[in-house]
Amino acid sequence: MTEGKDIRIIETEDGSHSLELPNLNETYHSKYGAIQESEYVYIKQGFSQFVKTNGLKILEIGFGTGLNALLTLREALKRKVAVEYHTVEAYPILPEVYEKLNYGKYILSAEAFLNLHQISWDEQKEVSPYFKIKKYHQKVEEIDLPHNYFDLVYFDAFAPSKQADIWSVKVLEKVGNSMATGGKFVTYCAQGAFKRNLKTLGFKVEELQGPPGKMQMIRAVK
Ligand SMILES: C[S@@+](CC[C@H](N)C(=O)[O-])C[C@H]1O[C@@H](n2cnc3c(N)ncnc32)[C@H](O)[C@@H]1O
Repeated sequence: MTEGKDIRIIETEDGSHSLELPNLNETYHSKYGAIQESEYVYIKQGFSQFVKTNGLKILEIGFGTGLNALLTLREALKRKVAVEYHTVEAYPILPEVYEKLNYGKYILSAEAFLNLHQISWDEQKEVSPYFKIKKYHQKVEEIDLPHNYFDLVYFDAFAPSKQADIWSVKVLEKVGNSMATGGKFVTYCAQGAFKRNLKTLGFKVEELQGPPGKMQMIRAVK
């Protein structure tokens, strides 16, 4: 899907880059601000909820540009919280694309950002005593996940209108089973069928105000 040439770098309203897939008519982030959206949805409404914990195991669906991973690395270092970050990506972007992304200008450094991309797939790597990462080059539909393990899930797939299967009960059940009781699941998406799927699976679903440009986002608790 993203390994071909049909991917474009765009500048969003906060100055940070995102990627656009013209064939799918889809972007990786909000056009109102990629960093602004990711910081609000995944860090403010997700990571920051666990600020008092000793360590945090995070699962991300959709590594994509690596922006959520970079933001989380920054938080882990700042708050001195040991993070184990697991991220699943079916279609990694190529060096010629990630080398041009400007996230390192705003968050930590260009070196820190490039390092996250250059880490091998499917091997756990310690980036710092506060941040271990394992990137899985796999489809979420096909991956085996541990049970009762993750404290926090960043669910950052393309919209249900583009990739309905990923938001299905089947995938959400697998992701839910991988979460510890009391674990939190955050996503930018607040689509009705998806919310009903979460409720069917027994999640407590909170509708929160969305980032700029979006009415709502979802945080669900297992
Ligand atoms: C909204 S974008 C990624 C956002 C990413 N977190 C970021 O900050 O750039 C969705 C990502 O999901 C990936 N993806 C698409 N289908 C997938 C699948 N079946 N399994 C895992 N990842 C998938 C896409 O390649 C893309 O990188």
